[in-house]
Amino acid sequence: MLTPLSRFLAEQPAPESLRQLILAVADACRDIGHAVNTSAIEGLTGALEQENVQGEMQKKLDVIANDMMLEARRWGGHVSALVSEEMEEIYPLISGEYLLVFDPIDGSSNVDVNGVVGTIFSVLKAPEGPIAEADVLQPGRRQLAAGYAIYGPQTTLVLTLGAGVSAFSLDQKTGDWLMTTPRMTIPASTREFAINMSNHRHWMPSVRRYIDECLAGKTGVRGADFNMRWLASMVGDVHRVLTRGGIFMYPVDSRKGIGKLRLMYEANPIAFLIEQAGGLATDGVNPILDIQPDDLHQRVGVVLGSREEVERVADYHKA
Ligand code: AHG
Ligand code: MN
Ligand code: MN
Ligand code: MN
Repeated sequence: MLTPLSRFLAEQPAPESLRQLILAVADACRDIGHAVNTSAIEGLTGALEQENVQGEMQKKLDVIANDMMLEARRWGGHVSALVSEEMEEIYPLISGEYLLVFDPIDGSSNVDVNGVVGTIFSVLKAPEGPIAEADVLQPGRRQLAAGYAIYGPQTTLVLTLGAGVSAFSLDQKTGDWLMTTPRMTIPASTREFAINMSNHRHWMPSVRRYIDECLAGKTGVRGADFNMRWLASMVGDVHRVLTRGGIFMYPVDSRKGIGKLRLMYEANPIAFLIEQAGGLATDGVNPILDIQPDDLHQRVGVVLGSREEVERVADYHKA
């Protein structure tokens, strides 16, 4: 018998309100997953003629999934503000103990090619009273819970409440989330990297050195052949790293001098999971979770995964 998410949560040393919130997030992910699964039938693939705050063309599913997360009745009075990739400003609700920060559809360029996408979320403590943007700008270290749902061949929820990482698969027949991996751990060493190689010419010398050494294979300085994977969905690539190890990088490069991925709803929740699974998550040198955010949509370089490789990249940066 596999443990349902509700029973797992009942055994966690977390307040009842947080457990209820996580169950509500899981329900929302189930609904979003269903919208993803049926998107071609419902005519919900493709782009809209509009951009989000970061100047990306929004997909129909970006907006639909975001709207599903905005349904206040879901949150049972536990959330006082929502923050999303798809909304410029915070979205206040009446009152609640928590802030919920999310990327409704991660990897949305994959929607139309039936590739892997997901939903990423982060839970922070809310101060009392009305919420201002500054209240949300908390370092990732203060997250109470974080996770993602991945809508792939299986629909899986990966979750941390700060005591390890567990994975729950969606039983499509009953709608239950059942624990399929009690404790995800990342091996310290790996021979697999994930990076968008088409950006090679824009990378910093340290990143170029690291990847070029991986590519040199057995006869190079690393003395080993490396494999490469890139799904163009952070959730998909990170799920592989959490499952069998690896290093995932979206570094700062020379194009804008900043990374691509967003700190509050991509890098922070994923970094929390990666650290909880025994890996490292840095901006290239320093832990992502220690960064003090100064903007809801700020971008950050990301280097995360198997400890030895992430440390090697940091060493190259410092050299
Ligand atoms: P989103 O779809 O939420 O905007 O995020 C896309 C991100 C991330 O999921 C992925 O790792 C990266 O963009 C892919 O970028 P490239 O298209 O540059 O490879
Ligand atoms: Mn986007
Ligand atoms: Mn994303
Ligand atoms: Mn997104």
